[in-house]
Amino acid sequence: MFINLEELSTPQVYFTMTQTILPRPIAWILSENKNGDYNLAPFSYFNAVSSDPPLVMVSIGRQDDGTKKDTLANVMERPEFVVHIASCEHLPALNLSSATLPPGESEVTRGNLETEAFEGYALPRLKAAKIALMCTVYAVQEIGNDSQTLLFGRIRNIYVQDACTRVNAKGRLEILPDKIHPLSRLGANQYSTFGEVLFAKRPA
Ligand SMILES: Cc1cc2nc3c(=O)[nH]c(=O)nc-3n(C[C@H](O)[C@H](O)[C@H](O)COP(=O)(O)O)c2cc1C
Repeated sequence: MFINLEELSTPQVYFTMTQTILPRPIAWILSENKNGDYNLAPFSYFNAVSSDPPLVMVSIGRQDDGTKKDTLANVMERPEFVVHIASCEHLPALNLSSATLPPGESEVTRGNLETEAFEGYALPRLKAAKIALMCTVYAVQEIGNDSQTLLFGRIRNIYVQDACTRVNAKGRLEILPDKIHPLSRLGANQYSTFGEVLFAKRPA
């Protein structure tokens, strides 16, 4: 079948896109609320978009009432945030953190999640996350007809849990995906677990 997006409403387009562009990585973003505690929320319109400078991009929609989501409001006030790469075992906590709480109420506190200092930076990282990217806001751009905002973050530092790394025979640092078990997003309320690792050499 062919699906002509021009014949669909915006929610239908969303459901179609999220069920066809998959799996998607999830940015589990910690930012600082006005009152000094921490906001946490997942975003799967997310990816790496540049290496020089090292940039990630997250696309943030509006709340149902048209106001900014807390993550966006927070980073526009205090331009730092931490992107965690969640592991499969984090799904319940990640899902809970997507609830809309009143502004200033902390999903970190609500989820009983522990944080740990990200050395050299003001914001902490989630202790349970095996990868955390410390980012500063690089650019914010409004797009589309539906008040969508692209947030570009410049990665300043990357934390990787030591147990998920090794130095290979050539002396190179390797980060081991089978120790990380990254969680990914499918359509609707579906997620996928980490599967088999396949290898393929790039053609010459
Ligand atoms: C796995 C997952 C992925 C999500 N991806 C996005 C996304 O890419 N963009 C978005 O605006 N909302 C996304 N959401 C919804 C937000 O997480 C939700 O609106 C959240 O309440 C925003 O929190 P905040 O207001 O604290 O920033 C996603 C939710 C889940 C569970």
